[in-house]
Amino acid sequence: MKHVIESQQFTRDLIDKLFRLAHKLEKKPDNSLKGKIMASVFYEPSTRTRFSFESAMIRLGGNVITTENAKEFSSAAKGETLEDSIRVINNYADIIVLRHHEQGASKRASLVSGVPIINAGDGIGQHPTQALLDLYTIERELGKIDGTVIALVGDLKHGRTIRSLAYLLGKYKNIHIQFVSPAALRVGSDIKDYLTRHKVSYSETDDLELVVSSVDVVYQTRIQKERFTTTKEYLKYKGCYQIGTTLVKQMKKKSIIMHPLPRVDEILSEVDASPKAAYFKQARYGVLVRMALLKYLLS
Ligand code: CP
Repeated sequence: MKHVIESQQFTRDLIDKLFRLAHKLEKKPDNSLKGKIMASVFYEPSTRTRFSFESAMIRLGGNVITTENAKEFSSAAKGETLEDSIRVINNYADIIVLRHHEQGASKRASLVSGVPIINAGDGIGQHPTQALLDLYTIERELGKIDGTVIALVGDLKHGRTIRSLAYLLGKYKNIHIQFVSPAALRVGSDIKDYLTRHKVSYSETDDLELVVSSVDVVYQTRIQKERFTTTKEYLKYKGCYQIGTTLVKQMKKKSIIMHPLPRVDEILSEVDASPKAAYFKQARYGVLVRMALLKYLLS
């Protein structure tokens, strides 16, 4: 694999290999990327993805060049195309981590890039490295991925993290995905068709309370304000699923709550102290998984 564009590219063998490497990197310092340069090029806001990739690269002995808010602070503001920017950055970096507001932007970048492109989120498209760290979190916290029942909750129409995660879960055995969303924010038919083709069972509901006691993972997501055309439309759905301690008490004993973050109001802070709250651990596991991926792509 040269570029990381979408979750479907990963085989189960490769995921296992990356997770083993992530475990190893947690225990043993490694500076094997000394002399390598990673460019993080972000056209959309980010806290976790940009910093965790940069932290991962630095922890492996490499260096980082970066632009945040590239729409404004890169030559895109002067009218430079994405393709031209990528061609130029190829002269400065050994790998490019790209977040862009347009679905398909990473694919376009990969077509003109001699160095690996990692999709760090492309509009409402995909966020494959988030999905990898989500799977790694499930494995670390529950001890297995096969046989898991997972509720994907919230804005499933615009959420790229759940799209990428659903594709990756399609590679595991005896998974059941419970999609939970308002009718207008349901997951796309491309995902459902993929799951059907890969014999992954799923069901859909708009009622979180109905399913919360029977799942191993509640994967909560934000209603994506920036993807709605009007504030009025967004406000119709804001706060439609809120996880508080009352709901947490209904969950199975050995179960976890995940969230790619950032959160707005969909998990109340009263839940943070619960042993089920795995969302800040996800951010920690993300550094390990991204270290493993950078090492794999650059070694
Ligand atoms: N989970 C995630 O992609 O977070 P950021 O938008 O902060 O990178």
